[in-house]
This record gives sequence, structure tokens and C-alpha cells, in this order.
Amino acid sequence: MVRKEAAAKTAIVLPTARWVAAFRKALVAWFARERRDLPWRRSRDPYSVWLSEIMLQQTTVAAVVAYYERFLARLPTVAALAAAPERDVLRLWEGLGYYRRARQLHRAAQVIVAEHGGVFPSEPDAVRALPGIGRYTAGAILSIAFDRPEPILEANTVRLLSRLAAYRDDPLAKPGQALLWAWAAALVPREEPGLFNQALMELGALVCTPREPKCAVCPVAKLCPTNKLGLQAEIPKPKAKKQFEDVREAAVLVEHRGKVLLVERSAGTRWAGLWDFPRFALEAESPPAIHAELRRKLQESLGIAAEIRFLTTTLKHGVTRFRITLDAYEAAYLGGKLTPRGFAAARWVGFDAMTRYPLNTTGRKISHLWGIRKKALKTAEKR
Ligand code: ADE
Repeated sequence: MVRKEAAAKTAIVLPTARWVAAFRKALVAWFARERRDLPWRRSRDPYSVWLSEIMLQQTTVAAVVAYYERFLARLPTVAALAAAPERDVLRLWEGLGYYRRARQLHRAAQVIVAEHGGVFPSEPDAVRALPGIGRYTAGAILSIAFDRPEPILEANTVRLLSRLAAYRDDPLAKPGQALLWAWAAALVPREEPGLFNQALMELGALVCTPREPKCAVCPVAKLCPTNKLGLQAEIPKPKAKKQFEDVREAAVLVEHRGKVLLVERSAGTRWAGLWDFPRFALEAESPPAIHAELRRKLQESLGIAAEIRFLTTTLKHGVTRFRITLDAYEAAYLGGKLTPRGFAAARWVGFDAMTRYPLNTTGRKISHLWGIRKKALKTAEKR
């Protein structure tokens, strides 16, 4: 038993001081030449660093740039963010996904106003205590905005450091994480740690890519055992394939006097705080039964009677491991007092007002299609 435990604990091997010095020098020189001009690299204001790092979680640089600029233009300070209604914050986030990030960002801004006088804290413990700020984000903010030699580890650097350490096991499992965080801490210098951390991420993003890394132009190829061994395809260890689950859902666009019914998603559910068309899991397989099922579900969850008219469109999208086929139906309100159950709120909304509500991506698509059809109908009526 004792021996087994000892064997399970792999000793952490760190690079030598010489290796570290050579690595830092080569990396920083490369970054000075090759760094992309990204909007969040133009300022070291902690609020903008924080915002960019939250947006960049699980989201590509290309997708983030426009969102980042619009968000900062509308809500340029912690105080402005804290004072904004959550609906506006979610509207600015609409389309980026993982909306919990936006809700936590908003809450953290309120904490900064309440507990730190609106000034972003620079103490590591205070930064880590903020909602939505984990070890990575704290390290990024503390190093980039406050010059603290804190390590970072995110998707790009996991891959890069796995290869530099020639780590063959799963880098996301506990022992792998312990090793890579220790490497990140050993590498980050006291001088310009934020610049260095950004250079690490940039090398991972541009050169040390998941497939076919560009070792021929890599500034640290000579220092990399994975390159020497030709193990780029094996390190990091390829992930087990995701097991997808197919799901069928229906969204119903219920019309009444030129307005449509929107519902607010409840706290604790997928898309909490966002608005949506009433959306249900579908059990029935074909039209008459589907119509009956949707009528029943509208009655049960919203207290209204409606006539299901027709299927307008089918959208396919993914949420985590679910592959969702979403059928969008148009329906007409017949009667009944609107009483939401299982939704935080329900409201009749006109097309123009809909632009102010944060919708999920498929909800926005359905609203656009509805708008286009309305316009076409109006044009036809005028003729
Ligand atoms: N990914 C996460 N943080 C980043 C940053 N600051 N620059 C580029 N890509 C990133």
C-alpha cells in the first residue's frame, strides 16, 4: 500500500535555471517581433484586462474582438458595469455563449464597488475572491495589469507547456495540472511577468498549435524535447472523443396583435437571465401529435391557449454535449391569462422592442426570420 502510494506520486521535474533563462530570452524576443495587435493589448487598465480574459475563456480571439470593443464602449468602467441592468449586460454578451461569465462579471463589478470603492483590487487574495475569477484569470490580471509574477495556465499554455515538459499523460487531470502549474510558476519572470505570460499564450496560439505545430519557425524549438522526439501528435495526449447526445426541442413563436410572447429563463437553468421563445423538449414524433404536445405545454407552463399554425424553420445547434435539433413553430394566441410557471417572466413584445432583450442565438435567428416574414407580408399587402 505504501509503495503503491509512493509510486502514484510522480515527482515534479522542473527545468534548470539555464534552460529557463534561454527560454525566456528567446520567447520575449520572438513576441516583440510577432505579437498581434489585439485591442486588449493597448491598455493595462485592470478592468479591460479582466473583461478580455473573461471573454477569451472558451472563445476564440477572432470572435471576441468585436464584442470586447462594443462592451468597453458601452460600459467603460467598473462603476458603469456595476450600475447597468443585468439585461443590458447580457444583451452585450449575446452570441458569445457561456452567459454565466457575464452574470458573474456583473456581480464582481458590484462587489468591487461595494467592497473596494470601485477600484479594481491588486491584492491576489482580493482578486481571487471575486465571482468568476479562478486561478487562471487571477494570474492573468495580476501579471498583466499589476506586474505581479503570477503564473497562468489556459488552453494554449497547457499545450505549449505539455510539449516543453514532454508530459505524455492527460494534462487536464490532477497530476498533469500540478506539473504544468509548477512549470508556469517556474518560468514566469519577476521583470515584466505580464508581457511574458502573454508571450506564452501567443506562442501557443500562433506556433505551438494543436495540429501540425510550426516547429520550423518556433523560437524555442531547440529547447523542446517534444520537437526533438517528433512526438507533436502524441503530446498533449489526445482527448477522448466527446459523446454527443441528440435532443429534439421546439420553440413556439406565439403571436398576438402584432406582438410575440417572450419568456425569461429562470435562475439556475440554461440561459438564466436571457429571454427566449417558449421552448420545450419534444416527445411526439409527427405533426398532429407535436401540435397537441405544444398546445398542452403552452397551457401548462404559461396558462394560455394557442393554435399551432406551422413549422417555420429547423435549426441545429450544440450546447455542451447536446446536439439539438430545434423546430420553430408559429402559433396564434387564442386566450387565457398569462401565468408563467417554470419561467421567471413572460411578456408580449413587439419586433422593435425585441432588440433590447438578450436572446439566445437561436432565439435571435427565429426573431429575425419573423421580422423578415412580417416585412414581406406588409409589402404584399400594400400591392
Ligand atoms: N487567450 C487568453 N488570454 C489571452 C490574451 N491575453 N491574448 C491572447 N489570447 C488569449
